[in-house]
Amino acid sequence: MTRHLYVHLPFCAHRCGYCDFVTVVGRQGQHAAYVDALLAELALERDLLAVELETVFLGGGTPTFTEPQALERLLTELPPAQEVTVEANPETVTQELARTLRGLGVNRVSLGVQSFRPHLLAVLDRVAQPDTVRRAHYHLRDAGVDNISFDLIYGIPGQSPADLEADLGDTLELGPEHLSCYELEAKPGTRFTHAHGAELERQADAMESYFELVVEALTGNGYRWYETANFCRQAERDLRSRHNLAYWLGRDYLGLGIGAVSTIRGNRWRNTPRLAAYVAEVAAGRRPARELEPLTSDVRMRERVMLGLRLDEPLAVEGIGSVLDQTAVERLVRLGLVARNNGSLALTPRGRMLGGGVTADLLA
Ligand SMILES: C[S@@+](CC[C@H](N)C(=O)[O-])C[C@H]1O[C@@H](n2cnc3c(N)ncnc32)[C@H](O)[C@@H]1O
Ligand code: SF4
Repeated sequence: MTRHLYVHLPFCAHRCGYCDFVTVVGRQGQHAAYVDALLAELALERDLLAVELETVFLGGGTPTFTEPQALERLLTELPPAQEVTVEANPETVTQELARTLRGLGVNRVSLGVQSFRPHLLAVLDRVAQPDTVRRAHYHLRDAGVDNISFDLIYGIPGQSPADLEADLGDTLELGPEHLSCYELEAKPGTRFTHAHGAELERQADAMESYFELVVEALTGNGYRWYETANFCRQAERDLRSRHNLAYWLGRDYLGLGIGAVSTIRGNRWRNTPRLAAYVAEVAAGRRPARELEPLTSDVRMRERVMLGLRLDEPLAVEGIGSVLDQTAVERLVRLGLVARNNGSLALTPRGRMLGGGVTADLLA
């Protein structure tokens, strides 16, 4: 039974130039109907879910831009879970919103910070200023949220190593429990890429050194580098994102809403990204249009390796040995990029710095 639930809330106040997620600008008049549709889709798929969920994750879009009544109804109606995360844009986090989230069982908030440098926030079309982030963080703490994650982006046009160091310094000052640090991905052919072409190339050349800087600053300040792009404070409780760990460990999850992906019992499907079609279908009691991808055991094993080796814990190779190129394993072990131990594999710190390339080499 599936113990992980993702819910997509696509609405945003505006569209940031670099963003490639399934989002819809404005449409306040449609938020309530969309939440009704989410709950109807949940009812259709209820049998796939375990009675007790481990994690619920409300992602976006900007979940906290959703009309307050609709968001409250959703949080009230969703099944409870041990970890309930909501993604929030800093400018939406008022004292009232923070208290409402906490009051409705949200125990983890992922704040889209991206940067603390005003000139970089402007390049990304972000509304929040550095002080907006600090205020949001304060409101969440004040409301009793004791598990806060920041999203940071590096490789932003105009960014220098000193800018990144300053972003990490400002982050460390606030001390969130968890951090996700992403390389900026700029999709070819978009207005953003067109506007920043040459500068994006310069940033791409600096990516490796930025990554090293991030890892050094965060591990040097006591954070655990538990996944390629994710870090958590070391404490008595485990502060890794349980929801994302489920993805990385190849567990089943159900996704609700437009563009949401589900992976259950060897099948993967992706809901239509079209809001009107989704709402109309589900309101009529039917499943929304979906792209279906049956996962062969070969694909599942490859994903297991690609995702599992992003973690800092060894990957047991029993049952997935057939997708590994044993000659490459030997070579990468000799080069000090892969560590082998009692039937498990892990990337060494140097291997993790090189990332996906090493893992791709391991696959037959
Ligand atoms: C679902 S997104 C949006 C969350 C929220 N609406 C926000 O903007 O803060 C989650 C995270 O993905 C990251 N992200 C979005 N677009 C990205 C891109 N093009 N390259 C790298 N990271 C990106 C950002 O750090 C963002 O906070
Ligand atoms: S607010 Fe977040 S989800 Fe919405 S457009 Fe900007 S980056 Fe994308």
